[in-house]
Amino acid sequence: MTVTEINWSEEVVPDSRFTVRFLPFDATVEVASGTTLLDAAVEAGLPVKASCGGRGTCGDCLLSINSGSYRARPSAGLSKNLVAQGYALACTTRVTDNLTVHLPQFQELSIRSVADSGFFNAHKDEVSGYYGPASFSETVADVIPSATDKNIFGIACDVGTTTVVVQLVDLRTGRVLSTASGYNHQLKCGDDIISRIHYAEKPGHLRELNTLIVATINRLIQKNLETIHGTFLDIYYASVSGNTTMTYLLLNMDPGNIRKDPYAVGLNRTRLAVSRNLGLKMNPEAMVLCAPAVGSYVGGDITAGLLCTPLLRDAEKVSLFIDVGTNGELVLGNRDWMVTCACSAGPAFEGSGTKCGMPAAAGAIERIGLDNGSVAYTVIGGGKPKGLCGSGLVDLLSGLFLQGYIDRGGKLSEEKAADRLVETERGGGFLIEKAERSYWEKDLVITENDIANLIRTKGAVFSACSLLLKNVGLAFENLDAVYIAGGFGQYLNIENAISIGLFPDLPRDRFHYLGNSSLLGAYLVLISDKNRDLVNETAGRMTYIELNTEPDYMNEYTGSLFLPHTDMDLFPSVKRIWNQ
Ligand code: FES
Repeated sequence: MTVTEINWSEEVVPDSRFTVRFLPFDATVEVASGTTLLDAAVEAGLPVKASCGGRGTCGDCLLSINSGSYRARPSAGLSKNLVAQGYALACTTRVTDNLTVHLPQFQELSIRSVADSGFFNAHKDEVSGYYGPASFSETVADVIPSATDKNIFGIACDVGTTTVVVQLVDLRTGRVLSTASGYNHQLKCGDDIISRIHYAEKPGHLRELNTLIVATINRLIQKNLETIHGTFLDIYYASVSGNTTMTYLLLNMDPGNIRKDPYAVGLNRTRLAVSRNLGLKMNPEAMVLCAPAVGSYVGGDITAGLLCTPLLRDAEKVSLFIDVGTNGELVLGNRDWMVTCACSAGPAFEGSGTKCGMPAAAGAIERIGLDNGSVAYTVIGGGKPKGLCGSGLVDLLSGLFLQGYIDRGGKLSEEKAADRLVETERGGGFLIEKAERSYWEKDLVITENDIANLIRTKGAVFSACSLLLKNVGLAFENLDAVYIAGGFGQYLNIENAISIGLFPDLPRDRFHYLGNSSLLGAYLVLISDKNRDLVNETAGRMTYIELNTEPDYMNEYTGSLFLPHTDMDLFPSVKRIWNQ
């Protein structure tokens, strides 16, 4: 890596063209010499933040340059130390060579495997539908070779809007051989479901989205095969769970109707396809099965995920299943009845949408506590903090609220927070860590805007939960169990999640973490046709409530835009602490 010059003012003549390759998306654009990396990233359609509008002061557009020469202007937004390590600001760096750059906000993910699903491991025998890998699925019996010395592999795949996880499974034993995870390459086409649906409307874009998700899955299959030195020809079966939009895009179906009334979905039973028609890197005759969706925003990740809970077996207890991601999906009920809905939670708890947020990767604060002016935290992988992941943000919001640094509407108290109040490009905020002790050598700050974003997110989830219960004439205290799915849920501090009003104020032993239930559900479908039948039955029994058409939803939502809620009596344990 070479910085050719740092004389920014000298004109770069746009007389040559160079390629810029952006990792981890592997997106390449060709631009004229002198183009800024920010413009190149925009041209590549990549989600690079730029809150100062390219003035070189906010530091949002930070990237690291892996190879090639470039011209960079020194900037207040970047320390000399970081420049020496190959970091640059996209807005103040001009292209003078072919470059490979890495967007550090999209780091290697540290996704925990199925083995981390503590609840599943503890309840393996009683959790519904776990029949074990006793015999080959009828679904694949025709394509599996009779020779007993051949490898017979399958893959379980969780296709998320942001991340994708693929597990390679030995179908003879049910053993997980390898797990690989990565960012969905479609991120460059928008970071949430709605923007992908919009993107797909333009000519040729549906095929592009389809190609990107197939490429993402193929890369992860390849990674798994390299781990075990296997060949893709030995993969005979894939079980895929994903939200409705991701499933449409994998099957190259137009997702346009997903957003339109009457919100019809054509995936209410498992979809079976042949691998060669989808372009997946498996045996060409292999079968690919997609878990069914029940609504526009309640997809196969939820129907498959329910397989991991006792909800499908118990006719007495009433349970709530919550998956908090960019969308919050909820299922309420038991073996005999189920209602479900999805709310637009926003990506705040997934690390986007807040200045200080980041995914749960190395350098993220995952736990944080405030104690009379001092802040203590733990960082994933140790070292200096880069930002906060979802669980850290929940802890922080709870601490700020319960210790009086913010009021119930999320406004910072000038008196209480005086020592830590700072001004940023995005307005006033609370200083979490000083520049000299943070990885990016910039103050780590949560702004009032970030706090407002988090409150909107938690409000969307809680109000959806409240509306579901009212729809069936039940109250929060009627909930016997709450199952929390998703990587975010697994590391949440329940006490703090209740104190901010994300979850209802129930006895703490009613809450159970599921881990990545979408992946685990895909795995269960992969190893047994009985599980496939169960997931179809489950989808058939679920009643989908479209919140967009529910007149009461807005009232519920507005009531939830306070900490923990406008009605403090809904949170008696928080009220007790608040009144002390
Ligand atoms: Fe580059 Fe703000 S956009 S520093």
